[in-house]
Amino acid sequence: MIDIREANVNDVTQIARLRSLGWGDEAFWIPRVANYMNGSQNPQMAKAERMVYLATDEEKVIGFIAGHLTSRLGCEGELQWIDIDPAYRRKGIASQLVEALARWFISHHACKICVDPGNDQARRFYLALGAQKLDDHWMFWKNINTIIKQ
Ligand SMILES: CC(C)(COP(=O)(O)OP(=O)(O)OC[C@H]1O[C@@H](n2cnc3c(N)ncnc32)[C@H](O)[C@@H]1OP(=O)(O)O)[C@@H](O)C(=O)NCCC(=O)NCCS
Repeated sequence: MIDIREANVNDVTQIARLRSLGWGDEAFWIPRVANYMNGSQNPQMAKAERMVYLATDEEKVIGFIAGHLTSRLGCEGELQWIDIDPAYRRKGIASQLVEALARWFISHHACKICVDPGNDQARRFYLALGAQKLDDHWMFWKNINTIIKQ
């Protein structure tokens, strides 16, 4: 059974493992994830408030999402990273994580949310969740409230 929970410092290695499936190795990602989570590393225009959620299957970390408040590109929030273990893709898990982060954004009065898709697969995923093109590179939700299932 898939559970969604908040991440903490003890989860950094598992998050780095998921990040390294796309690019880089765990040693590259561990300090970057840790410093993002503790606020000592900040993406452009990031504010202090940030959140990381995990998806777990019987304690095994199989996905995560990270986001923060921002003033980047006229937005109020930025989806920083999302990764799902390849064995668990196309089961709606990333959609559940985006919804969890969307609820966090809304609770922090952030509705306009940007994301750098980085690749075509992710672009199609965000399109399926109702995101629009912001410029040649970025995508955004004008109001992330629209993806919340009642
Ligand atoms: C992009 C990613 C997060 C999607 O995760 P996921 O759990 O498979 O996504 P979901 O199952 O919630 O997909 C929801 C919908 O998005 C669309 N979608 C998801 N992956 C897609 C793909 N590879 N190609 C086309 N559409 C896709 C589909 O419409 C899908 O619904 P469907 O399966 O009923 O057709 C995952 O493929 C991943 O981790 N990719 C590598 C990391 C990455 O690119 N991260 C984003 C940039 S930081």
